[in-house]
Amino acid sequence: MKDKLKILEATGLAVHLCSGKKRMPLLRDVSLSLEPGEILGVVGESGAGKTMLVRSLAGLLSPPARVTAGKIRYGGNSLDYTDPAAWNSLRGRGIFVMFQSAVQALNPSLTVGRQLLEAVDVGRRAGPGKAMSTGQDPGLPESQSRKADVDQIGELLEAVGLSPDLAGRYPFEISGGMKQRVQVATALALRPRVLIADEPTTGLDPVNQEVILGLLSALNRDFGTALILVSHDIRAVACLSRRILVMEQGRVAEAGYSDQVVSSPRSAAARQLVENMIQLEKGACPCRILN
Ligand SMILES: Nc1ncnc2c1ncn2[C@@H]1O[C@H](COP(=O)(O)OP(=O)(O)OP(=O)(O)O)[C@@H](O)[C@H]1O
Ligand SMILES: [Mg+2]
Repeated sequence: MKDKLKILEATGLAVHLCSGKKRMPLLRDVSLSLEPGEILGVVGESGAGKTMLVRSLAGLLSPPARVTAGKIRYGGNSLDYTDPAAWNSLRGRGIFVMFQSAVQALNPSLTVGRQLLEAVDVGRRAGPGKAMSTGQDPGLPESQSRKADVDQIGELLEAVGLSPDLAGRYPFEISGGMKQRVQVATALALRPRVLIADEPTTGLDPVNQEVILGLLSALNRDFGTALILVSHDIRAVACLSRRILVMEQGRVAEAGYSDQVVSSPRSAAARQLVENMIQLEKGACPCRILN
C-alpha cells in the first residue's frame, strides 16, 4: 500500500554543538512524520531536546548547533540546511513556529498591530482565499487601504479574544497569555500548512491554557493546519493529538498512539510523564472544553 503523503518528515536527525573538533550531541537519530492536517504531540522533561527539535524542523538552529546527520522533508522534498533562502521562503505560510519564549515570539520594537500587518501582507501575497483576508483590492486609495488593514487586524485580535485596541501596544505592555494569543492571531493571518507550537500553554493560567488549546484546535479543524504540539505536559497534548513522540536526552524514547502511550507507557520517560500527570490530575484537564 502506498504511504500517505507526509507534509513534514525527519529521518535519522542528529544535531551537535560543534566547536573545533569537539562535538556535543543534542539530538540523536530522531525520526518523525506528520501528515497534512494531523496533530502530533512531542513531550519530554525539561532538557529532553524538544526546542532543539523545533528549531531543527524550522531551519532555525544557530551556530554552534548544527544538523550533522539525517534529512528533513517538506511535502516530500528534501530541505537543504545550507540554503537559508529555501527555509526563509518556507517559514510563515509553510511552517510557522509559535515560540516557547516570549522574547523570541514577538519583535519588541514593533507594535502588535505592525507585526500582525506583516503576517497579513504575507498571507495576502499568497493569494486570495488562502489566508484570512479581507479580499482587499490592491488598487484602493491609500487611506481606504489603511482602513482595511486596521479592520483586518482588529478582526484577527477579536478572533483570539483580544481587544482591537491592543494593536497599538508593544509586546512589553501585554501579558504572556496575550502574547500567545497574538502568536495564534499571526497564525490565523497566515494559515500555515504546518504549525509547530513549542510549549504554547506553559506558564499560563488554566483559563488561558484552555483558550490557546481551543484556538490551535480550531486552526487545525477549520483550515487543516497540521500541528506539532510540544509540551512537558502529556495530558494537555494527549487530548488533542492522535500520536505522541516522547523525547529523552535528545532521543525518541517512545512513539505511538496517544491513548496507548498514556494508558500503557513502555519507556521510563513516558512512565515519568504519566506519573506527573496523575499527580496533577486533581486539577481539571486543561483541554476539557474540547472533549
Ligand atoms: N544554545 C545552546 N548551547 C548549548 N546547549 C544548549 C543550547 N540550547 C540548548 N542546549 C542544551 O540542549 C539540550 C536540549 O535543550 P532544549 O532547550 O531543546 O530542551 P527542552 O526539551 O526544550 O526543555 P524545556 O522543556 O525546558 O524547554 C539541553 O541539555 C540544553 O542544555
Ligand atoms: Mg523547550
